Amino acid sequence: MSEASSALRYRPDGEYGAGESTFERFATASFGWQTLAMTESPESSVRFAHLDGVAADEAVTAAHHSYRQQRPRSAKQAEVAGRVLPGGSTRSVLDIDPFPFRVASADGAQLVDVDGLTYTDFLGDYTAALLGHNPPAIRRAVVDALDRGWSLGALSNAEHELAELLCQRFPSVDQIRFTNSGTEANLMAISLARHQTGRQKVLVFDGGYHGGLLHFGPGGSPLQAPFDYVRCRYNDLGSVAAALNEHGPQIACAVVEPMLGAGGCIPARSDFLMLLLRRCRAAGVLVVFDEVMTSRMSAGGAQERLGLDPDLTTLGKYLAGGMTFGAFGGSADLMSAFDPARGGTLTHGGTFNNNVVTMSAGIAACAQLLDADRLDRLFDDGEAFRARLNEQLAPLSMMATGWGSMLTIHGALGPIAAPHDLAGVDARVGELLFHRLLDRGYYIARRGFVSLSLAVTAEQRAGFVDALAEALSSLTADGILIPLRGE
Ligand SMILES: Cc1ncc(COP(=O)(O)O)c(C=O)c1O
Repeated sequence: MSEASSALRYRPDGEYGAGESTFERFATASFGWQTLAMTESPESSVRFAHLDGVAADEAVTAAHHSYRQQRPRSAKQAEVAGRVLPGGSTRSVLDIDPFPFRVASADGAQLVDVDGLTYTDFLGDYTAALLGHNPPAIRRAVVDALDRGWSLGALSNAEHELAELLCQRFPSVDQIRFTNSGTEANLMAISLARHQTGRQKVLVFDGGYHGGLLHFGPGGSPLQAPFDYVRCRYNDLGSVAAALNEHGPQIACAVVEPMLGAGGCIPARSDFLMLLLRRCRAAGVLVVFDEVMTSRMSAGGAQERLGLDPDLTTLGKYLAGGMTFGAFGGSADLMSAFDPARGGTLTHGGTFNNNVVTMSAGIAACAQLLDADRLDRLFDDGEAFRARLNEQLAPLSMMATGWGSMLTIHGALGPIAAPHDLAGVDARVGELLFHRLLDRGYYIARRGFVSLSLAVTAEQRAGFVDALAEALSSLTADGILIPLRGE
């Protein structure tokens, strides 16, 4: 544990210091509500939700106790898991205090856990379950593919058919290669950019998340892929200009999410990405749009919605209908590095890169389910949903930031332009809201993240708005969340 990251640890007395609970590990592994070690930007006029510290600590303890009481089977399984899996799982973001519940079955927008509790799923597997659970077209495609055999050690048509569908969708992508995850896609895109430019440094943004080895939360991560990074502030062109002035000729690429996802659903300001592209191009720096999450903003991703053409794009999550997936692509010129016929010298391996399950599910998802109209409607529904949540949140100095069908609820009221603006958020607000929503049968990420799937109905969205209103009024009625006077 680095000194900087240990500064994030939450103690039951409400201070942040050394400690060992799952909540503490979560606060270190994730961010959103948990950007506590960062410096607040001097110009920030953000207000923070106000808690009664003693009442909040008691309520967190009570929430964890009640959670445990309701889930004896999950508790038992967590104990078994902890013996063979360090931390009890292989996906740290799924940690819940006191232990994560276990899903027994999932269908549409519903999860049922092993204790028989039912949740309406507003997390949508951190965007990967955009199609909802068990979509019949994906199931059929997977079963058909399995009927023809798998682990071929040879090519099938499915690989180039999916590539064609993706190249047609994303305006800046002429050619594409598949990986098994978004992390791998970003590692490959960065490595390609370094190869093509002959430069070594990588410009990234505070709060950016590009995978398990490319995580730029507060204090950095001991598990970062060993590239030479130049860190800038999101939505701050001044910090980009300074980085380019100082390091421009050594920077191979800038990697940017069109909206910070794990960093708190903070969208790029309207001209930020356009000017970033312009300045990077002038300095010979390639720009990689990490669209692993934001590609859902339209059929052609955030880049199509914004009318911008990055040099390279990385993809992942839902595009293969929930199967393990990643991809990176860009201009034929850049991608020629992998084509020996065009003088390319790079090879790119991966036993499962072209696995038939992913390729076939991806074809079904792109050709049958993810059409432009559906994605546009989801975007609009998400915008309207966020506005309704904000009506509930604003009186308590809270807000949901986001774009389209993805949002994060913060214990702060904007303007929020970068994770630094969330430095004063009390992590207990998020913890309590998470548990009070769960008690009402709504599942979101612990860090307040919500991603709507196509399976979530208008009635379910309305139910969530009511559940949030109830959760917030229960917190105020219990004297935990204190509305500011006159609000
Ligand atoms: C923006 C972004 N990039 C990359 C990744 C990594 O993708 P994967 O988890 O498939 O490795 C994620 C995962 O959450 C992400 O949100």
